[in-house]
Amino acid sequence: MKLAILGGSFNPVHVGHLYLADTVLAAYDYDRVILVPTYQSPFKFGASGGSPAERMDMLAASIAGDSRLAIDDCELRRKGISYTVDTIADIVRRYRPTGKPALVLGDDLVQDFHKWRGADDIVKNADIIIARRLLSADMVFPYPYTQLHNEVMNISSAEIRERILNNGNWRYLVPHGARMIIEDRGLYRFPPRAYEDSPTLALLVRVEEAARSLISQSRFTHSRAVALLCSDLCRRFGLDPRKGYLAGISHDICKSLPEQELIDMAERDGGGISKLEQKKPSLLHARAAAVLLAERFGVAPATPLSQTSPETAPATFPADVLEAVRLHIGGGMGMGSLAKILFIADKIEVTREGIDPALRDLSETGSLDQLFTAVLDNNVAYLRSRQVDISEGTLRLLDAMHKKDSL
Ligand SMILES: [Fe+2]
Ligand SMILES: [Fe+2]
Repeated sequence: MKLAILGGSFNPVHVGHLYLADTVLAAYDYDRVILVPTYQSPFKFGASGGSPAERMDMLAASIAGDSRLAIDDCELRRKGISYTVDTIADIVRRYRPTGKPALVLGDDLVQDFHKWRGADDIVKNADIIIARRLLSADMVFPYPYTQLHNEVMNISSAEIRERILNNGNWRYLVPHGARMIIEDRGLYRFPPRAYEDSPTLALLVRVEEAARSLISQSRFTHSRAVALLCSDLCRRFGLDPRKGYLAGISHDICKSLPEQELIDMAERDGGGISKLEQKKPSLLHARAAAVLLAERFGVAPATPLSQTSPETAPATFPADVLEAVRLHIGGGMGMGSLAKILFIADKIEVTREGIDPALRDLSETGSLDQLFTAVLDNNVAYLRSRQVDISEGTLRLLDAMHKKDSL
């Protein structure tokens, strides 16, 4: 196998690194690029943030599924100052590549290359590929090399760290996997989450991908619109917007399941199946969704939390989000604020046609209970007009909300 080596601090990895690796693979006949994070570069003492473990995690999350890229942690394991001459020898010994490996160097490093330890051995044991990093470079490199005619992406890890620190625009300069780790772990002083039990971005993404694979595209478009409105309403009413997003994106996750599966799943919440639900099992898609989310994304009861570290602990699925999902069709007595918000958002999100503009106005100005009662009223009136059976629970709730209103 023909190998190319691309070293760097990857603190954090950014799209320029991976685009460069991809360009090397496209330009020459190398089979794989090995990304080698440096423990500590001799010329970059004291770079801030990003421990070796965090940098490895960000890299791994960023190249997931791409078998043309590998990560080698030899420099991290060696610790101390990283010398490329040692890394090349180590990689050749373990990987046994076909022919010499290539070493990809940015043209910003060329000027001082002769000062590197074992520079002569490096050029003897590896084919040098020089990639453009600088927009204008008068380059003198007194050894044999190949010039890669890559496009210069004007981004650097240092610039990204700076932008994270200053709340700038950085999110789409790093691969998605790295972004999730930076946000969830608060790397580079990314602001910590404002709500203590806020769901992680990783959980949001896993649930969203599951929803996308389980429901139709139009249903997913609806779910995404519900998620955005839920998150906006949560912000307005002082709740965690991430929980709102999670509730919205997941609420219809079981909408496409066959009726028998809905019944089997809903039964697992222990609530029994009502006559109305027996007659119309599609109504169980809300209860089934709560069961699916708890089972698939919650902590397995067999895994005591005490035996897991925060890094490896499975994500918990917030109980108030489960309640919201469970009650999103007809509501329920004593339902919490998040459940009310999901109920509202499901009924009036922007892709729904024929919504009374007064309801959308109220969503910007009214109190949560005013808005909820109006939407519930509207929904019950609509169902009655179409002679659809309405659950006892929903009618009791409507009654209670009106009584509360008149107090
Ligand atoms: Fe639904
Ligand atoms: Fe829905």
